[in-house]
Amino acid sequence: MHPDLKAQLQALLGERVQFEIHLKPFTSLRIGGPADAITYPNSAVEVTKVVQLCNQHETAWRLLGGGTNLLVADTGYAGVLLCTTRHMNRFHLEREEEQTALLFAECGVRMSRLLSFCSSQGLAGMEFAAGIPGTFGGVLWMNGGTRAGSVDEILHSMQIIGADGQLRELQAAEVPFRYRSCGLPRNVAILSGRVELKRGEPRQINAKVAKIKSFRENQPLEMANAGSVFKNPKGDFAGRLIEMSGLKGKCVGGAMISDRHANFIINRGDASAEDVLRLIQLAKERVYQEHGIELETELEVLA
Ligand code: EPU
Repeated sequence: MHPDLKAQLQALLGERVQFEIHLKPFTSLRIGGPADAITYPNSAVEVTKVVQLCNQHETAWRLLGGGTNLLVADTGYAGVLLCTTRHMNRFHLEREEEQTALLFAECGVRMSRLLSFCSSQGLAGMEFAAGIPGTFGGVLWMNGGTRAGSVDEILHSMQIIGADGQLRELQAAEVPFRYRSCGLPRNVAILSGRVELKRGEPRQINAKVAKIKSFRENQPLEMANAGSVFKNPKGDFAGRLIEMSGLKGKCVGGAMISDRHANFIINRGDASAEDVLRLIQLAKERVYQEHGIELETELEVLA
């Protein structure tokens, strides 16, 4: 990393920047080499300052949320990460009407926190996200959801930072959402969003949350994992196809295709990113050979 960039980041952020930081603890898979720098911005404006400094030095940057859908390369990340969970985790009700409410949240807030806030306030609409371990920003980025729905169904608007380091507001209709993707290019990042909620009965909301959480009973959540590895192909399920290909329980190094849910890869303790990538490749090849279906990864790779 250029020494001038290092000095400028330190001048801007003080103790909220660290260098050569191992990323394992920042990911639910507990895998990954070091990042050149990790920063902890506390506002959208501060994000723009970090991004503009990176751009001036032609240095890569990327936002890091909960790290729950992320595979970090063994070689780590040659660039500056902007970690959102520490400080960019505020939320509030922006507008409350008799039957509806508009909730504003920054990207780094955990979905579980938003969900319990909504339940306690008797606000319905967010239940689809029950059990999703990541952040609001991560869910917006990948149009996260469960079989009960996805975030595009309740989005009102979002704030993004473009490749040029400028902030922009997008209305929901301007976001090219697809299944498990917001459709925005990799060189932009989402900083916050607003969702539309409806008044509901806390008891009913809690019951729905419990039901949706129970969909996860077949998932190996007690082991280090990153959720579904592949998107479900149209009309089928990646887990079913991988199981039919005989790969449940298949190990490469310290990584294993879960013997409980075949669309999960777990880290048995000392897996490398390379081990996980080899299992991904194997699952793709086998499913293609045996079923003629090309699986597409849902997992994001940071390299
Ligand atoms: N199946 C198998 N073998 C397996 C796993 C699944 O045959 O090893 C079959 C199941 O029997 C079922 C079908 O595949 O008929 C679907 O499985 P499941 O109900 O477990 O749901 P999923 O499609 O694998 C989706 C989401 C999960 C979410 C669950 C529950 C995707 C890619 N995944 O999984 O989301 O938790 O529904 O709502 O849409 C994530 O996105 O990271 C994630 C964990």
